[in-house]
Amino acid sequence: MAVKKSGVYDAILKQVNAEMYSAYLYLQLSADASAMKWNGAAAWLRAHAGEEMTHASKFYDYLIRKGIDVKFDAIEKPATTAKDLHEIFKAVYGHEIKVTAMINKIMETAIAEKDYAAAAELQWFVTEQVEEEETARDIVDMLEKAGKSPEALIFIDHHLGCKKE
Ligand SMILES: [Fe+2]
Ligand SMILES: [Fe+2]
Repeated sequence: MAVKKSGVYDAILKQVNAEMYSAYLYLQLSADASAMKWNGAAAWLRAHAGEEMTHASKFYDYLIRKGIDVKFDAIEKPATTAKDLHEIFKAVYGHEIKVTAMINKIMETAIAEKDYAAAAELQWFVTEQVEEEETARDIVDMLEKAGKSPEALIFIDHHLGCKKE
């Protein structure tokens, strides 16, 4: 039986695309870091791309469980202009702030539509975004402290390689 689509389902479907774009962006940034020979950062970014795919899957599974007929749109080309490690992680932090705003907007729709199941599902993402922003901000802060010191940057790169999930 077809389930009538509401605004929140459309917004969640768009977010599946946005999470896949996030994975694509992290993967591109990982490739950029590899090209710069920051192998630890590349491994961290590569692992995080996988994490973004799990976010896309979590939203996708929710739509399927609710009986929604899912039709995907094209995924945008990742826009990256980062020239060094610092710019890579500033791009990551800026992206996560944008994602938080997207999640908050879907939550507002869920609340406006009194869709408490969607709100409960979205709560996981609201909490997750606090961690995503904190992690990215901590790395940007570390890189700002390191400045142009090769020793400090090599240490951070190694640290990121060890921290990859
Ligand atoms: Fe995500
Ligand atoms: Fe994220």
